[in-house]
Amino acid sequence: MRVLLTGGAGYIGSHTAVELAGAAHEVVVFDDLSATSAVAVERIRELAAADVPFVKIDVTDREAVAAAIADTGPFDAIIHLAARKAIGESVAKPLEYYFNNINSTLVMLEMLSRFDIPTFLFSGTGTVYSEQADLPFVETSRTSIDLPNPYSKSKRICEEIMRDYSLTEPDKRLIGLRYFNPIGAHPSGRIGEDPHGIPNNLMPIVARVGSGKLPQVSIFGRDYDTDDGTALRDYIHVVDLARGHLAAIEHARPGLEFFNLGTGRPSSVLELIAAFEAASGIHIPTVDAPRRPGDVQATYCLPDKAAEKLGWRAELDVVQACRDYWRWQENNPGGYDGN
Ligand code: UD1
Repeated sequence: MRVLLTGGAGYIGSHTAVELAGAAHEVVVFDDLSATSAVAVERIRELAAADVPFVKIDVTDREAVAAAIADTGPFDAIIHLAARKAIGESVAKPLEYYFNNINSTLVMLEMLSRFDIPTFLFSGTGTVYSEQADLPFVETSRTSIDLPNPYSKSKRICEEIMRDYSLTEPDKRLIGLRYFNPIGAHPSGRIGEDPHGIPNNLMPIVARVGSGKLPQVSIFGRDYDTDDGTALRDYIHVVDLARGHLAAIEHARPGLEFFNLGTGRPSSVLELIAAFEAASGIHIPTVDAPRRPGDVQATYCLPDKAAEKLGWRAELDVVQACRDYWRWQENNPGGYDGN
């Protein structure tokens, strides 16, 4: 298939580009490079051993996108990953988050109709499930629009936009993916997560402590109702996640479907840190800290629908993910641009 991948130079996008190319799909990357680097595109080409075309573009700009598709198409599928994704920032800049995440999705859906593209994948989040929903989350679990931040709400709104669009275009194959917590990196150590500024997520913080850039990991809450008192998350290796996209475009059917992409095997904060220590051989000092505002005790999914309908399951475990994340971090201590 010829695939248009928006956000294809980002963390999930770069791994998805490499997996697509590895499965003999042709990929064209659209990205504004606002949260990544042109070096990521060079690394994708290196790993794909192909000249993956790249267009630097803001995908909220409808006419620019139409012109770029006219130039680089035709396409069999759009995988739309381009979005603002920092939860904390979304609270401070709600308009920026709604504008970017919703308009880009509107534009890309319009392109499906305008350019007769049959398949569309949307990158959503497991945070759309209501806090009241029972664990593990299945695709029919209650979702909410009353979510704690504009990022999650923007993703939930896009799901509803896809639902309405699907009613007008029933032959289109639309899939909403709901990601759990991506970690890890490509086993080559050439591409990985490159958070700009101070990271908020557990994995990049642990890796920075591993490399001595931060002194210790604060454990946000040891009084949760879990085996070791720390919160549970469904950490998924980014290469598994990328392969989920591949399975989704290959098995998409007319209509709209949502799929959880997670492992179904939750790890606690302490378990993730222990996995990193086992993978790297480095001791990670920790300090107990209060719960982080807005955090929930546990989120994890049942990924069986993706197994049944897409033939996909996560295969890599958290130790492997930590090993790969650490290799990426050691080989690229300053990220792509060495900062
Ligand atoms: C966050 C996002 C979520 C996103 C996910 C991507 C929020 C509210 N949610 O989820 O939308 O999909 O990242 O991976 O930000 N922790 C510590 N110490 C730290 C950092 C984190 O103990 O220094 C704990 C947190 O309290 C949490 C767990 O580690 O229990 C995971 O945190 P994090 O990696 O930030 O992910 P989420 O909060 O699950």
